[in-house]
Amino acid sequence: MNFRWSVVAACALAAAALAAPTAHAMDAAQLATQGNGKGAPPCLGCHGADGGGQAAAGFPRLAGLDASYLRRQLDSFADGTRDNPVMKPVATALTTDERQALAGYYSRLPLPAALARPATQPPAPDSRGALLATRGRWSRQVPACEQCHGPGGVGVGAAFPPLAGQSAAYIAAQLRAWQRGSRRNDPLALMQHISAALDDQDITEVAGWFAAQPLGQPKATP
Ligand code: HEC
Ligand code: HEC
Repeated sequence: MNFRWSVVAACALAAAALAAPTAHAMDAAQLATQGNGKGAPPCLGCHGADGGGQAAAGFPRLAGLDASYLRRQLDSFADGTRDNPVMKPVATALTTDERQALAGYYSRLPLPAALARPATQPPAPDSRGALLATRGRWSRQVPACEQCHGPGGVGVGAAFPPLAGQSAAYIAAQLRAWQRGSRRNDPLALMQHISAALDDQDITEVAGWFAAQPLGQPKATP
């Protein structure tokens, strides 16, 4: 095969690869804006038309999160390992194909412009929240949050979701859910161990620090 033909073949393959997700994306956009007519409400009512969430209400940003992370969360809401009274009926009403399509749809949405500039100023670099985020607390075996969640909490790959662009209320609620055991779906129980080593003030401060970080493109690999 000469060079020109291999380019043509590669383009054809790329076009075929693109065609499938586009058909899916159509269904998913409809699901996101209209629901599935079988008990799943429109996602945009809570997560926003741009997938940016609603900070004041504690509804998280979904746009730009990894597709397999999002899919896993929907499965966990449905099976109860992430026990949440709002999302459980939503996830339960979605078929596995619909969960997959919605996860792909939100992962492909661009970073929401409204979140480009954080609403709050970051706390001082020597504040408790900043120290936990950037250095951890080795006396309690807490690694720096940034070690897994990336610099400024931009997120890393499929395993480590972004914290930048999530509200302080949402971040704190998740840490408390792990402490209570109502969220227990995390791989290797990493977040269950970490949140158990934090007190209330730690949670408030580290959530405030991440909520004040600018959005960034997630890093692909750890
Ligand atoms: C009535 C409001 C509401 C609606 C409608 C809703 N959500 Fe949610 N969603 C929430 C809340 C609240 C949370 C946070 C739950 C928690 O604290 O664990 C959440 C969390 C999530 C998460 C986890 C995000 C993360 O970062 O871990 C995903 C994924 C999600 N929702 C997807 C969807 C999809 C897809 C739809 C539409 C089919 C939808 N949601 C509809 C309120 C809603
Ligand atoms: C050893 C790696 C590791 C470290 C260190 C770590 N995390 Fe996590 N974190 C994870 C993993 C893995 C998940 C995804 C859990 C899942 O898949 O349900 C997660 C998820 C989260 C979430 C949920 C995000 C969402 O969208 O729902 C929050 C909030 C969070 N971590 C906060 C923190 C904070 C704050 C620190 C530092 C005190 C921290 N993490 C340190 C591995 C880590």
